[in-house]
Amino acid sequence: MATVQTRSERLDTARAMFSGPVRLSEPYPGAPPLWIEPEGHALAQGMPAFADWMTVNHKAIEAALVSFGAIVWRGFPVAETDDFIAMMDRFKSYAKGYAGGTSNRKAIKGPAMEATRTPPHVYIQLHQEMSYMPDNPRALAFYCKQPPDSGGETVICDMRGLLEQIPEPTRHKFENYGARYVRNLRSGLVDDWRAEPDLRHATWQYWFDSEDRDQVSAQLDERGTHYRWNEDGSLTFWNSEPAVAMHPATGDRLYFNQLNSQIQNEWTIGKDRADLFDQLYGDHTARPYAVAFDNGDPVTEEDYLAVRELFEARKIAFQWRARDVMLLDNKLTAHGRHPFTGKRDVQVMLFD
Ligand SMILES: [Fe+2]
Repeated sequence: MATVQTRSERLDTARAMFSGPVRLSEPYPGAPPLWIEPEGHALAQGMPAFADWMTVNHKAIEAALVSFGAIVWRGFPVAETDDFIAMMDRFKSYAKGYAGGTSNRKAIKGPAMEATRTPPHVYIQLHQEMSYMPDNPRALAFYCKQPPDSGGETVICDMRGLLEQIPEPTRHKFENYGARYVRNLRSGLVDDWRAEPDLRHATWQYWFDSEDRDQVSAQLDERGTHYRWNEDGSLTFWNSEPAVAMHPATGDRLYFNQLNSQIQNEWTIGKDRADLFDQLYGDHTARPYAVAFDNGDPVTEEDYLAVRELFEARKIAFQWRARDVMLLDNKLTAHGRHPFTGKRDVQVMLFD
């Protein structure tokens, strides 16, 4: 286990490592993120100067990402997607891309993607990106091109020490049973009741951006995911993963799964929607998501609430301003999104 620094120590360490005209602060003492703002005009106005600063400070950024779990840049000249890409140039793109991911998102340009197309009224629960997959990104960056009229905060949660706070017997299940994720994607060629937009039962053609079953199968093979093509044209895929992961740099044992964010019942999607799902899907039709502990035990209400209470107690809501960029360590800091109104343009890049 790495030595844990107190909040002032880690800020002092960061100040000693970073160079150039920037101001560093810790807005939520002891929790993420490290906050970076330009001091004076040199970095606030010119993108080339800021991109150079990012390069010169790359080592300090990587170190701060581990000690703070997240970094926010505010006040820098990141006006366009190209600037966001240039800023993150030293970070290696996530090689496996996003195919098979559960969020509804599309590429914008190069490695930059829409954060999500999940409808504005939906609260995206705190989660660690692709923690339901055998392979997942080490870090991710969000860029706010346009903040919404109201709401739409990205919520983040420090995952350090959360596992230890989960009460028994729930903690035992997460530590010992692992997680099982089952996903069903309908076929876009079959026009049945599952096409109702409210159900958000996506098609595999949309998800994998392909009409070709063989190509989709090849992607799932490459990811080590089990799958089955069903008679109704839908695709079911599933995999079992540990629910806890060790951080490669800090040695922390961390809660790392999406049982809580993928479960769909009245606790998470509301009673009306849960009833509609029960009525339409019953026990026989594959639902878009199904999760359980990998020994077959269901996630009980007690399990769900134990984790949700910790998430909610630790949650920090981050209100976006245009040109803000946030970099997250995917294991140390979970993220989610509050509902919003208006147009919200937040973009994301995933890194190895
Ligand atoms: Fe996400």
